[in-house]
Amino acid sequence: MADLSVMVDGLKLKNPFVIGSGPPGTNANVIKKAFDEGWGAVIAKTVSLDASKVVNVAPRYARMRAAETREVIGWENIELISDRPFEVWEKEFRQLKQERPEGVLIASIMEEYRKEAWVELVERCQACGVDAFELNFSCPHGLPERKMGAAMGQAPDILQEVCGWVNEAASVPVWAKMTPNITHICEPARAALVAGCEGIAAINTILSVMGVNLETLRPEPTVEGYTVPGGYSCKAVRPIALRMVMELATMMYGGGLGSEIGQAGEGEFPDRSLSGIGGVETGKDAAQFILLGASTVQVCTGVMIHGYKMVRDMCAELSEFMDSHGFKTIEDFRGQSLQYFTTHAALVQRQKEVKAAEKAAKAGLVTEDAAWEGDKFVEQSDKLVANDD
Ligand SMILES: Cc1cc2nc3c(=O)[nH]c(=O)nc-3n(C[C@H](O)[C@H](O)[C@H](O)COP(=O)(O)O)c2cc1C
Repeated sequence: MADLSVMVDGLKLKNPFVIGSGPPGTNANVIKKAFDEGWGAVIAKTVSLDASKVVNVAPRYARMRAAETREVIGWENIELISDRPFEVWEKEFRQLKQERPEGVLIASIMEEYRKEAWVELVERCQACGVDAFELNFSCPHGLPERKMGAAMGQAPDILQEVCGWVNEAASVPVWAKMTPNITHICEPARAALVAGCEGIAAINTILSVMGVNLETLRPEPTVEGYTVPGGYSCKAVRPIALRMVMELATMMYGGGLGSEIGQAGEGEFPDRSLSGIGGVETGKDAAQFILLGASTVQVCTGVMIHGYKMVRDMCAELSEFMDSHGFKTIEDFRGQSLQYFTTHAALVQRQKEVKAAEKAAKAGLVTEDAAWEGDKFVEQSDKLVANDD
């Protein structure tokens, strides 16, 4: 039976499944439910010092469904960070650590570009006993207008400075959560790691417009006739998330043995952690993020569709996958598929070699000494002759 537990940045999780910051971690009540169902850790909904500046609208979600099955495959939201007063959160963090002391509780935090604000937020959360921090540098809507969230995540210099403030004040592990709304995700991630963050989490939602209502001509979700671009999540974003996690892992850990990216064993941050996020709903989805270097896998929208109990099926499926390959621990296969990424030129070269070998085999040409046969010896010799003058 496979061992699903992971040790990450000194935190022991009973399995790699983590509730991603969002509605599934929006108050103590639901966080308790997540722990009771067996999630490896919970990242609470992002908090800031002054919730009065956070005003949500409704509707704030829009969904994309598969044409035939009606299954939800894409989800847009224009939801902000938590609108609950920070004092309430302090009480609930303390209560959670008292009532579920074994549950790994991670505070997601976000503030304006002011050192005192970040330091105060870190110190007050820490005093409540949270086990780690995730820095939200990635919310794509609403907050960037206040130079928060993705606006910081898209400016590596600012991000590095803010991570420096946080790391100075934090005595527990710190993960920086990246925005995918950027050309090269490794640049802000490198800045966070240089500033001392223990880990990177990726990805947050992808900036999107779900669609335009062809009767009203209004884009959706429509709030009093208008909208803003929102964040896209769920199954549809998984391929993009896997690509970004692969790029981050290659930068952090190297390309893996046999890789032709030329980074085998040359990762820039081999001892930092990576948490994969985006469209995870099954154990097999999780296995793919782990194969690309993640040691934990977060789920947000999936929980909004399937409920907290989905973690049981995900554990069973991940365990089955591990058994079928003989992997005993998560570390046994983490990052194992990174070695199969290469350059396009190298793909062309490989294909040329395979085709040349196939052609030679078809023509009955001997290409290796072991292929000589006693009763075809003369025929095989003849085929290797270039000119017969
Ligand atoms: C409704 C909603 C609210 C979210 N709120 C937050 C948030 O407060 N902080 C944060 O860091 N990410 C937030 N996210 C982003 C998720 O944590 C996650 O990064 C993203 O949705 C991709 O993962 P998924 O496909 O599993 O949802 C939110 C996502 C959704 C759908």
